[in-house]
Amino acid sequence: MSDAPKPPAIAPVGRGLAAGGVLDAESPGEPVTATPATVPADGAGRGATELAEIVVLDYGGQYSQLIARRVRDCGVFSELLPHNVPLEEIAARKPRGIILSGGPASVYAEGAPPLEPGLLELGVPVMGICYGMQLLVHELGGRVEQAEVGEFGRSDLHVSDGGRLLDGLPREQTCWMSHRDTVFEPPPGFTALASSSASPVAAIEHRGRGIYGIQFHPEVVHTPYGQEILTRFLNEICGCEPTWSAASIAEDQIRRIREQVGSGKVICGLSGGVDSSVAALLVHRAVGDQLTCVFVDHGLMRKDEGEQVVSTFRDTFKVPLVAVDAESRFLEKLKGVTDPEAKRKAIGAEFIRVFEEEAARLADAEDGGPGGDRPSGERPIKDRPARFLVQGTLYSDVIESGGGTGAATIKSHHNVGGLPEDLQFELVEPLRALFKDEVRAVGAELGLPERLVWRQPFPGPGLAIRIVGGEATKQRLDVLREADHILQDEIRKAGLYRELWQSFCVLPDVRTVGVQGDERTYGYVVVIRAVTSDDAMTADWARLPYDLLEAIASRMINEIREVNRVVLDITSKPPGTIEWE
Ligand code: XMP
Repeated sequence: MSDAPKPPAIAPVGRGLAAGGVLDAESPGEPVTATPATVPADGAGRGATELAEIVVLDYGGQYSQLIARRVRDCGVFSELLPHNVPLEEIAARKPRGIILSGGPASVYAEGAPPLEPGLLELGVPVMGICYGMQLLVHELGGRVEQAEVGEFGRSDLHVSDGGRLLDGLPREQTCWMSHRDTVFEPPPGFTALASSSASPVAAIEHRGRGIYGIQFHPEVVHTPYGQEILTRFLNEICGCEPTWSAASIAEDQIRRIREQVGSGKVICGLSGGVDSSVAALLVHRAVGDQLTCVFVDHGLMRKDEGEQVVSTFRDTFKVPLVAVDAESRFLEKLKGVTDPEAKRKAIGAEFIRVFEEEAARLADAEDGGPGGDRPSGERPIKDRPARFLVQGTLYSDVIESGGGTGAATIKSHHNVGGLPEDLQFELVEPLRALFKDEVRAVGAELGLPERLVWRQPFPGPGLAIRIVGGEATKQRLDVLREADHILQDEIRKAGLYRELWQSFCVLPDVRTVGVQGDERTYGYVVVIRAVTSDDAMTADWARLPYDLLEAIASRMINEIREVNRVVLDITSKPPGTIEWE
C-alpha cells in the first residue's frame, strides 16, 4: 500500500483548491443545469504557440493535483488526467514528459490501477512518484514488497548516486514519505540513486530509456528539495522552458474567448468573488462591451460588498453592468424559513428567477426591445439566437467532474446557481484550465484590486445561512453584517486576513442576559468562526491572538447595541463543518 494513511497535517505551499465548486461560491448553492460546456479543457491554457506540457496521470493519490500545481509553479503547463485515459489522448497532447502520481493501492492488490501498455513507448521521459514508481518497478522486473513497517512522514534520504535526476543535490536531505509497499531492487538496467531509513531503493533512473522514479513526494513542502527535483526533471530531462505564467494565461485566454464568441453577446453573473470577477475581466478584455455583467444583490452580502463590486466593475473597469437590487424579493422568500436547506433552496430559486428576468430583458433590448419589431415576451427565450454565458469553472471542478479530458460529463455546478435549461447559452469558461491560486495571479495581472483578488470564500446563500436556527430577517442580517464587518476589519488590521481560509460571524437565534451601564440587557450572541484550511475539506480553528479577540469582542459589544455577548468557535472540521448551517 502506498499513500495509505493520511500523513499528519501537511501544509502545501499556497492556498488550497476549490472543492466541488462550492468554494468561493459565486452564487447560491443549487446545482446548475445550463447546457454542457463547449469549450474543450483539452490544452485550454496552452497558448497560441505550442507550449510545453507535462501530463500527470492520476492514480488516486492525495497529492495528485498538487503535483500538477508544482509543475506549473516551475513555469510549465501541466494537466492532471485519469490514469486510464486512452493512450491516444495522451499522445495527442504531445507532452514533453509524463508523471505518474502516487495512489492508495498496492501493485499486488486486485484491481490495482495498471500501467497503460505503450505508455513507456511514447518516446517522452516518464517519472513515477510513490505508487507511480512502484508500478514502474513492478512492471519492469524489479522487486516491490510490503515492508515490515511503513514509512509515513519525514524521512532521511541518502543520495548515493545523483544520476541525472538528483545531480547536484545534497547527499543527505529530508523528504516526505507515505507508503507501505517498498522497492527493494530496481528493475534490470536501472540505477538506484538513493535510499531512506525504510526504503532501500528510494529513487531510480534509466537514462537511456528516460524512466525515473522517486518513492518520496517532491510536491509537498516537507521535501525541501522537491521543487528542485521537479525542476530538474522538467528542464534537464524533459527540456521544458519555463514559459507558463499568469501573463501568458491571460493573453491566451483573451485570444480564445475572441475566437469562441466572435461578435456574439455575452452575459456574466458577477458575485464579487474572485472567480467570476476574473472571468468577467478576461471576457471584457477580449470582447469589450459585447459583455454585460449582471450583479444580483440579494441583500445577503457583507457590508459594502455590493457597492464595491459595482464601483470596481462599472466605474474602474468600465464593464457594462446591470446591478439588480433584489433585497426585498429575497427577504420576502426567506420569511418564516428557518431550515438550512429550505433557505438554500429559496435563495437558489429566487436567484434563478432574477437572473432569468435580467437575461430576458437584455435579450429583448438586443432584439429591438419592447415595442420594437420583436416585442418583449413574443419570442420565448429558448427560440432566440444563442448567446454566451460566462462561468468561472475552475480546473479543480473539471478534474472532479471526470477529468480534464474535455468530456461532456462536466457538471456545471457553480457560479450562476441553477440556470434553467431553456436558457440556451453556450458557456464561456476562461478559467477551466486554472487552479485557484492561478486565478488570483491572473486577477492581479489584470489589475483587480487586492481586496477582490484575495477575497476569502463566501457561500452563495450569503449571510442567510449564518443566522442559525432562525429566520434571516433584515434586522438580524444587519446585526450580523455589522459584526462581520468589525471582525474583518480587525483581522485585516492584524495582517491575518490572508492567513485564514475563512473568518466570519454566526448569529444564533438565541439571546442571553447581560449587564451594561448598570442595566440588564437581553441581547444577541455573536459567534466568531475563523479557520485555516487548504481546501475546505478539512479545517482547523485558527488560534487568533487573545488581544485581537478582545479587541473584536469589545468593539462588537460597544458598537452594536443588540449584541451583548461574543463567543469563539473552537471546532475543527471534522467533526464540525466550516459553516454552521
Ligand atoms: P462546510 O460548511 O461544508 O463548507 O465545511 C465548506 C466550504 O463551502 C462553503 N459553503 C457553501 N458554498 N453554497 C456555497 O456556495 C453553500 O450552500 C455553502 N455551504 C458551505 C463554505 O463557506 C466553505 O468554504
